Amino acid sequence: MHILKRMQEAPIFTFEIPEKRDGREVYDFIKSCPPLDLNSRYAYFLLCDHFSKTSMICRDISNEEEVVGFIGGYRKPTEPETLFVWQIAVSEKCRGHKLSHMMLERLIGVNDPTPVEKVEATYTPSNMASYNFFTRFAESKSARVDTSDYLSAEDLSGGGSNHEAEKKIIISFDKQ
Ligand SMILES: CC(C)(COP(=O)(O)OP(=O)(O)OC[C@H]1O[C@@H](n2cnc3c(N)ncnc32)[C@H](O)[C@@H]1OP(=O)(O)O)[C@@H](O)C(=O)NCCC(=O)NCCS
Repeated sequence: MHILKRMQEAPIFTFEIPEKRDGREVYDFIKSCPPLDLNSRYAYFLLCDHFSKTSMICRDISNEEEVVGFIGGYRKPTEPETLFVWQIAVSEKCRGHKLSHMMLERLIGVNDPTPVEKVEATYTPSNMASYNFFTRFAESKSARVDTSDYLSAEDLSGGGSNHEAEKKIIISFDKQ
């Protein structure tokens, strides 16, 4: 009986492209994942609708289909071979189990409209989990990593709120 209960409680994760209706849950999920910037509900509805093929939602179906992971991304309009990861997050209780790695791996396997040759993202220098995640992912794929400045703190701060600078990271799978 004890074993049966434990088996029933074991998380079962699903990885799917989001649908428009997921926008609201994604908004609530991102809200629970600091230090990510929270964008408007409208933005998450658009992401889940128009950019669904380059985004990924992960649910724990053993726990009322709770959202436990999300990647919001898009192919850069002028470089369709580049997948831009706008936001990536996993719920606190599920971190450290490679869920982010699995979500991104699935997304780079999508060859629509062309194979993914690069993953691009930005990160705040104080967010070591973010930087380590991307560099570790690159390492696991024997990919090259380039980092550079992207937006300054001045660019992003104003109206009484401060924001750290954002650095850009590019992961290139062509092993140049
Ligand atoms: C960053 C984040 C998405 C990682 O998710 P995750 O599913 O726990 O990551 P993984 O289990 O796939 O970890 C892969 C690698 O990332 C690195 N990493 C993950 N969490 C880390 C942490 N807290 N500190 C340092 N490194 C970390 C490790 O190098 C790890 O590889 P290893 O286990 O072989 O050492 C998650 O911590 C998160 O949602 N954070 C809050 C939101 C956020 O900051 N998102 C990133 C903004 S771009």
